[in-house]
Amino acid sequence: MHAFHYRDGHLFCEDVEVAIAADRFGTPLYLYSAGTILDHFGRLDEALAGLDHLICYAVKANSNRAILRLLRDAGAGFDIVSGGELFRALKAGADPGKCTFAGVGKSREEIEYALEQGVYSFNIESEAELDYINEIASAKNQRAPIALRVNPDVEAQTHQYISTGKSENKFGIALEQAAKVYERASKMPAVAIRGVQMHIGSQITEAAPFVAAIEKIAPLVSELRSKYAIEFFSIGGGLGIAYESSIASGSGDWWTSQRSHPLTIRDYVDAILLPLTRLGLRILLEPGRLLVGNAGILLTRVRYIKETAQKKFAIIDAGMNDLIRPALYGSYHEIVPVNQSSTSRITKKNRTRKIDIVGPVCESGDFFAQDREMPPVQAGDLLAVMSAGAYGFVMASNYNSRPLPAEALIEGDKLALIRERESFADLVRGEVNPELRGVSPTL
Ligand code: LLP
Repeated sequence: MHAFHYRDGHLFCEDVEVAIAADRFGTPLYLYSAGTILDHFGRLDEALAGLDHLICYAVKANSNRAILRLLRDAGAGFDIVSGGELFRALKAGADPGKCTFAGVGKSREEIEYALEQGVYSFNIESEAELDYINEIASAKNQRAPIALRVNPDVEAQTHQYISTGKSENKFGIALEQAAKVYERASKMPAVAIRGVQMHIGSQITEAAPFVAAIEKIAPLVSELRSKYAIEFFSIGGGLGIAYESSIASGSGDWWTSQRSHPLTIRDYVDAILLPLTRLGLRILLEPGRLLVGNAGILLTRVRYIKETAQKKFAIIDAGMNDLIRPALYGSYHEIVPVNQSSTSRITKKNRTRKIDIVGPVCESGDFFAQDREMPPVQAGDLLAVMSAGAYGFVMASNYNSRPLPAEALIEGDKLALIRERESFADLVRGEVNPELRGVSPTL
């Protein structure tokens, strides 16, 4: 199956010409392929078939309800990190009994809401949080199902902002402390020990850190199993995706690039299957990027071409407020023309001089690519920023008072708008009292 590919020089997503979506819904536009998401989910699920497992999609990667619904229908549970994400998941028809609640700073309101809805597990990140959840559940005459997030202190070999399994990170409870904290938890009246969890980071492209972390935590898991009859071990998410592919060269297709990726789903599962099978527990996984990252693009139109003494810029209508990953992490996103003219097909021979692809936001950090070799780009051209399905729209903001972009989903030959573009009225909707008529607070 092809997700994003060229037909006669025109970029298609599944069976829909991408330019049609841009014409219909405008740009910037996030466009997702349902088939790709389901294919990734299906391949992971199938690779794990021999293991009692549940894939809890990490909602933070892309939380549009249409996407949550797709995954729910495919059998996924959800890993959520806020009351808002739980609300979204439930609105998409999720079974709360298949939702895990992670995060270092859960509020009272969020904990109460999750207790009322009956989540599968609170993944606890500190002793203070454990005490707080016990107190809140006790006041509600409930028992909160819990797992401790254990920090195995392993190097995930990824960007420092998204590495979470080292002891200097704010996440989890140190492996050496964990047994003691479980012991305390076992004596608490309003918590029920249900499992153990880890998550060492994101965009990890080697199997070794996952294996190292699992092997480090495995003895604790076995001990907890015999002491407290825990049900599950969640190994978190973090499996990286290919951000570079062969699509720009016009040779091969998206899946070829997937196969050439250093860590495939198969390699990942092959590496972790044996140590996990030995534990004899239900295994939870929390993939986000893997399922949706390569399933989405950000469509944008070139507004102006600007040449200075040193540089050539293509100024596009998407900005860092729409996709912040390049500005925040210096991350690479492939950028390709939606319509390849015969001269714009990138071959080794006709590559033009390097160009910066930048947005309209008033910051020099507002770039999508710097000194990138591109085929000839002109004002009015449509470009696709690839692999923008994860941590794209969800991290968008209204900076520079730019309305949030629209989102659309393609399924085979069908195209649907799944979020409207914001209007100027939306920008000021939550603001009250513009005349600033204050009253003195009573002392
Ligand atoms: N589970 C937990 C507890 C997490 O904190 C995360 C991601 C995941 C699962 C899913 O990880 P994934 O499978 O997507 O790698 N904004 C960054 C990524 C932040 C990841 C945060 N936690 C980016 O754009 O690269």
